[in-house]
Amino acid sequence: MSVDKYERIWMFGAGGLIVVFLVIISITAATQAVRPPSHIEVVNPATIAEHPEFGDPQLRVEADGRIVIPVLAQMFGFFPDPLEVPVNTPITFRITSADVVHGFQVVGTNANAMAVPGYVSQFTYTFKKAGTYDIACNEYCGLMHHAMVGKITVTEAPGGQR
Ligand code: CUA
Repeated sequence: MSVDKYERIWMFGAGGLIVVFLVIISITAATQAVRPPSHIEVVNPATIAEHPEFGDPQLRVEADGRIVIPVLAQMFGFFPDPLEVPVNTPITFRITSADVVHGFQVVGTNANAMAVPGYVSQFTYTFKKAGTYDIACNEYCGLMHHAMVGKITVTEAPGGQR
């Protein structure tokens, strides 16, 4: 039984793609490249309560004026909560989880990261509009996942926290 030439080309094409995918998956697994996309920074979730930054997470202003907010996501809330930040000011969020994978999404913006136990997810976001925003957990994390909501108030006075 002969296989049509074009049929054969497509068969090898599809087979080749499968091989490529398997190689990519193997390399990813072997190099442990699965992590939050921001950067690699690890933290021990088992001792997070004693951690200098995440044990009692608080908004801080660095020497250069940058506002940094460490956030601990934990069943079923964000800490600290609520937050207050000035408008038109870059805010660096540093997020980790004490237990399972949570999400940290500032509703209505593209400020969004996963909270992964053992890792710190970091991004910087500048609010362009004052107002009150909800922070939603967008990864299913347990029975009260739907109630895991935080608040962030963006105030009009730029640099009001400095
Ligand atoms: Cu935390 Cu869903």
